[in-house]
Amino acid sequence: MALDAEQIVTKVLNVAALPAVAIKFSEAIKDPLTSNQLLENIISEDLAIASKVLMIANSALFNFPSKIDTITKAITIIGQKQMSQIILSCSVVKMFNEIPQDVIDMDMFWRHSIAVATASRILATYRREQNIEKFFAAGLLHDIGKLILFVEAPKYANEVITKCAESNDLMHKVEKEVLGFDHAKLGALLLKKWKLPEDVVSTVYHHHMPSIAPGEIIGPSIIHIADIITHALQLGSSGERFIPTLNEKAWDALDLDVDILSTVIDQLNVQHTEAVNYILGLS
Ligand SMILES: [Fe+2]
Ligand SMILES: [Fe+2]
Repeated sequence: MALDAEQIVTKVLNVAALPAVAIKFSEAIKDPLTSNQLLENIISEDLAIASKVLMIANSALFNFPSKIDTITKAITIIGQKQMSQIILSCSVVKMFNEIPQDVIDMDMFWRHSIAVATASRILATYRREQNIEKFFAAGLLHDIGKLILFVEAPKYANEVITKCAESNDLMHKVEKEVLGFDHAKLGALLLKKWKLPEDVVSTVYHHHMPSIAPGEIIGPSIIHIADIITHALQLGSSGERFIPTLNEKAWDALDLDVDILSTVIDQLNVQHTEAVNYILGLS
């Protein structure tokens, strides 16, 4: 029986629904007159997320000179849209907890995802992109399709892993052979159902081969390069055994000097440790 990506994603929505606070917040900021105080009230409905948001605002990710002690202050400084991406990021790591540890190490998976998110955010900063939290969210979610597969089609997920081990091929290539589509497509379909911005959906869809993305390729290129850096540094693991093949057009598109990479890596090592602690709730 052939698998259908749409059907799989529709089924996974039962276990991967966005939490109320994330939905309410993103709905509320569509109205430009929404006050930061009202947004603080929304965030405060979920105490776990509220405290994580404050810790992240005070972390090395932002490096603000003075302490941010209220959510309203954090939203004022960080911005409403960017705060929305942070809430989303804090929400997704609580999902898919039912996947058995021997199937995929969730801690390692999220460490990989947080590293790609952090590296993407740093690269976006060097490019002076607006709304850098959008790149953080896309980085965090880039491989979420792998989790969807483990939850809804574990037999096929295991077949992919076995074939990867036999062929020494990258997962997304083997997925296309076994399933007819890859985890990037599954992830993008889920993000579309969550009504995330179109460019975030397209970024996740094209993170393996940014140069064939229709239209803007900066988003997928940033995630692609961040993924390669993260694999090279072995920060966490998404189950992939090899460093993804570099899409040279993606690097060229970023128009960054190769000399920045050592600083990027230094910043990544510091910020990754903090982001992991706060987002995974280790501190
Ligand atoms: Fe991937
Ligand atoms: Fe990845």
